[in-house]
Amino acid sequence: MKSVLEAAKMFAGEVIPTGGHVLDATAGNGHDTTFLASCAGPEGTVTSMDIQQQALDETKERAPDWVTLVRDSHANAGKYLSGAPLDCVMFNLGYLPGGDKSVVTTPEETLQALRTLLPQLKAGGRIVMVVYHGHPGGENERDALMAFASSLPQKQVQALIYQYINQRGAAPFLVVLERLTTAELKLDV
Ligand SMILES: C[S@@+](CC[C@H](N)C(=O)[O-])C[C@H]1O[C@@H](n2cnc3c(N)ncnc32)[C@H](O)[C@@H]1O
Repeated sequence: MKSVLEAAKMFAGEVIPTGGHVLDATAGNGHDTTFLASCAGPEGTVTSMDIQQQALDETKERAPDWVTLVRDSHANAGKYLSGAPLDCVMFNLGYLPGGDKSVVTTPEETLQALRTLLPQLKAGGRIVMVVYHGHPGGENERDALMAFASSLPQKQVQALIYQYINQRGAAPFLVVLERLTTAELKLDV
């Protein structure tokens, strides 16, 4: 079976065409950005956001130079996107590995980003989220995300979790949201 990180790449890679339009909402050390860029290719549009300069520096080292790096919260993602429909958005929640563990993603900003980004997905586009929840505050973010995802209108968005259920500790799991139609998406969640 695929690990959670392998499955995240699978769910993302399946919907990113060459020339695709994608966002990495949590650049971190740039591994996901590099993967997304390899799917979309240089003809694509890849934006990678993080609130920490250290993360953007790491990402710059790893990812192709045509990726656009943005230092801001994903809660403000709408300001940096062209308006063209998105094929895929990736999140990897929690703290920067090797960095300051007190700087973490938050429920408020993560949900704000989802409310902005879900309506910008193409039909068939996906938001792929690796949910780390073992750090302080991680449980709250996990619970807020699960409540949000499970209340999305089922005719418009498919929401799944991919999770190993017999791992000890707070093993990370995956949430995937796929937009089904281009009908206007009203989110009152
Ligand atoms: C688990 S790491 C991401 C790992 C990354 N995807 C990779 O491939 O290496 C989480 C990142 O989210 C960033 N972050 C925290 N809050 C954020 C926010 N509101 N907007 C954007 N990035 C944020 C952290 O600075 C950290 O670098």
